[in-house]
Amino acid sequence: MVSNIIQEALNKQIRIEAESSQIYLAMACWAEVKGLEGIATFMYTQSQEERDHMLKLIKFVNERGGHAKISQLDEPEIEFETIKSMFELLLKHEIFVSTSINELVDITLKEKDYATHNFLQWYVSEQIEEEAVARTILDKINMIGDDKGGLYLFDRDIQQLSVVSAASPQGGAV
Ligand code: FEO
Repeated sequence: MVSNIIQEALNKQIRIEAESSQIYLAMACWAEVKGLEGIATFMYTQSQEERDHMLKLIKFVNERGGHAKISQLDEPEIEFETIKSMFELLLKHEIFVSTSINELVDITLKEKDYATHNFLQWYVSEQIEEEAVARTILDKINMIGDDKGGLYLFDRDIQQLSVVSAASPQGGAV
């Protein structure tokens, strides 16, 4: 049984994961209309993964005697100056999500809810991987700079990154 404090904290995280999914969906659309197919594919996959993170939390709350709350969401940004600024936003957002997960873990310890604490360890690992992928992508973008040929290759390569990650033993944690 989840306590009210834990339920409230998990419901807050459910909303954050839902907003993450919308943020990446908006990024996918921006990339798609610009003809950046690889980046769009990466972002659609990312958006789907965030929805899965949300669903996993929802199931956990409901199965432990709580009631998952489906909240109204903030509208995501739909326009981006550059590919680089979009990925900078992605990294910033993932750092925000990691902070939120860490705070949630902290609450479970204070509440002595070890089952939820154990459940959240998957999210802790996932965040490490998501931040690492975002940093790797930004390193690549910084190396490419304004080179159009490099950008073409990057758009092709990032598509591979989605596929490779989805096929990884960790279950596609980009
Ligand atoms: Fe589910 Fe990328 O945080």
